[in-house]
Amino acid sequence: MALTLAFDVYGTLVDPSGMVVHLRQDAGDAADAVSRLWREKQVEYAFRRGLMRCYKDFGTCTRQALQTAFRVHGLSLDSEREDALIQSFLELPAFPDAQEGLRAVAGYRRFAFSNGTYPALEKVLGHNGLREHLEGLVSVDDIRSFKPDPAVYAYARRATGAFEAPLCLVSSNSWDVIGARSAGLMAIWVKREPGMVFEDWGFEPNAVIGDLTELPGVLG
Ligand code: LAC
Repeated sequence: MALTLAFDVYGTLVDPSGMVVHLRQDAGDAADAVSRLWREKQVEYAFRRGLMRCYKDFGTCTRQALQTAFRVHGLSLDSEREDALIQSFLELPAFPDAQEGLRAVAGYRRFAFSNGTYPALEKVLGHNGLREHLEGLVSVDDIRSFKPDPAVYAYARRATGAFEAPLCLVSSNSWDVIGARSAGLMAIWVKREPGMVFEDWGFEPNAVIGDLTELPGVLG
């Protein structure tokens, strides 16, 4: 039976570092550092909320992480600018290989599988013309937990109907790949930067690619 592909969104299809240009107005020279910390805290807050069983959706994690990133850098952000930055986050740019990569595997069932909420996913994927390449979206919001909770990966299997056939995560986030492999899924790691390190936890990706256009080569 054919493989079903589940694409991570933030960091895999769309580029969180696309926020740097929007952060310049408020953060100036610190925009790169604020952007990096924002992303780190966003992911950390989702991990912590999952562990604490204290769920608030990814949009809340994103907003709270933005506030923290500014505070850590000693920068102020009024609520109007905060809303504007959150709005820009909903329109993050796609990675240049995302369209072509999704098109190249049109013979497979393709889903987005993300910590993001449905409205946020519809918006960012629609904005970049990626939504039309996907059969559907799977959001962790349905079960009020976050990657890498094994329940989330089991849910992706149910939500995509991939019971008999293998479900394969495609993600640039090594922690996501490790979470999927630990939960029994297949997973392909997108090593977007040569310096990216895959942590040695005893869970290996089934394949490693440099960008999404290399997918057909490893699926064949
Ligand atoms: C996602 C983030 C965590 O699930 O990369 O889309």
